[in-house]
Amino acid sequence: MGLFKHVTSVCSAGLLMAVCLASSRAAEVDQCVQCHQDPAFRVQNKKLFDYFLQWKGSVHDEAGVSCDDCHGGDPSAPEKGKAHEGVLRPTDEKSRVFFQNIPKTCGECHAEVYGNFVQSRHYQVLMDKEGGPNCVTCHGSLNSEVFLSKPVVKTCSECHNAESGNHPEIVELAERILHRMNVAGMYRKWTTLHYEAAGQPEVMKPTDKLYGEIAKSWHQFDFQETDRDSEALMLELRSLYNAARREERAKASGPGGAKSPAKKTADK
Ligand code: HEC
Ligand code: HEC
Ligand code: HEC
Ligand code: HEC
Ligand code: HEC
Repeated sequence: MGLFKHVTSVCSAGLLMAVCLASSRAAEVDQCVQCHQDPAFRVQNKKLFDYFLQWKGSVHDEAGVSCDDCHGGDPSAPEKGKAHEGVLRPTDEKSRVFFQNIPKTCGECHAEVYGNFVQSRHYQVLMDKEGGPNCVTCHGSLNSEVFLSKPVVKTCSECHNAESGNHPEIVELAERILHRMNVAGMYRKWTTLHYEAAGQPEVMKPTDKLYGEIAKSWHQFDFQETDRDSEALMLELRSLYNAARREERAKASGPGGAKSPAKKTADK
């Protein structure tokens, strides 16, 4: 689950209608999956079957996002030739999964991330064919996952290292930002529950806003702002957390304390 996760349901605001359509269609037989899942491919065409296995059980599988959403083709056709109409190899410039077309394809559903990514230096160098990463460089193509700090650092350092001389310092910075977001995420979870139970959900508004801004600036890969904001966020959430802890402790030890279950329910 992503640290920056703010999309809670498949048909929520951050994603386009395509997703809702993808899942409402789930009742029909998906012929792409029907055929590609054939265990005979395990021996006949292992590479092909590996792609199926990567998708199986992924966030996309679970959200009803299937082969045709990224590759095109006709998922209602049981016969290969017809199903593959429009499915092009990744080396074909017209393919939806050609390396330079990938951001746009993913962006059909991840519109907000796409909107930010196109503003990044990464996107610029990708389109200039100078070796910038696209979405799947960092997320994988089929089993898209959101990274925790360790694996992220590994991916970043494939390009950002002392040998390439391409901003090697970025790797440590990225790790620091992701670590802060991780810690902030834990504080946020706990304080949100606390202030909701206390009937004061508005307390969380400013940090929720900041959290959203950081998630946004991340894909612009302009780390000055992200660095500053993630530090501020972590400190603010930590003080909210400490305040909430003090309130809970005061409540527990206060007059007629919450020790007795009868009193506890009466409080609610
Ligand atoms: C009846 C079986 C069958 C169906 C239905 C089918 N495929 Fe395939 N697919 C294959 C086989 C077999 C291959 C291996 C290459 C080949 O034989 O053409 C393949 C290859 C692929 C490839 C690799 C690209 C390539 O040309 O090598 C992609 C991507 C793909 N299929 C996507 C899809 C999508 C998307 C759908 C549904 C719209 C789909 N397939 C439906 C059997 C099927
Ligand atoms: C979220 C988007 C997405 C979904 C869903 C998806 N793929 Fe892919 N797939 C890609 C991308 C992007 C590539 C090209 C980059 C790469 O090779 O990793 C790719 C590459 C492939 C390839 C290799 C093609 C070649 O010729 O090298 C096969 C085979 C394949 N996918 C099959 C499938 C099948 C079968 C499904 C459904 C079970 C599926 N994909 C679902 C995005 C997706
Ligand atoms: C047809 C719509 C669709 C397409 C196309 C699509 N996705 Fe997704 N993606 C989703 C849905 C729905 C989810 C699950 C809901 C969520 O967590 O956002 C998801 C989840 C994810 C997640 C996990 C997010 C999290 O917070 O855990 C990542 C990463 C991701 N997608 C990357 C990609 C990449 C990379 C591509 C292109 C290769 C792509 N997606 C193409 C709809 C799509
Ligand atoms: C250079 C690496 C990199 C590239 C390129 C990249 N991402 Fe991400 N992405 C990340 C990292 C790291 C995170 C955040 C880590 C976390 O939340 O755990 C993330 C988070 C996400 C999330 C979940 C959080 C959110 O904001 O919804 C989605 C979805 C996503 N990326 C999709 C994409 C798509 C689509 C593209 C291409 C348009 C893309 N990413 C390009 C590294 C990358
Ligand atoms: C496939 C190679 C590749 C990967 C992987 C990669 N980058 Fe980059 N990155 C580049 C290139 C190329 C540039 C542009 C360098 C330049 O011209 O200044 C760049 C630039 C940047 C910049 C500077 C942006 C600016 O506006 O100056 C940041 C920040 C950055 N990358 C962060 C990351 C992070 C974080 C990761 C891992 C999650 C990552 N990159 C993974 C190739 C990559």
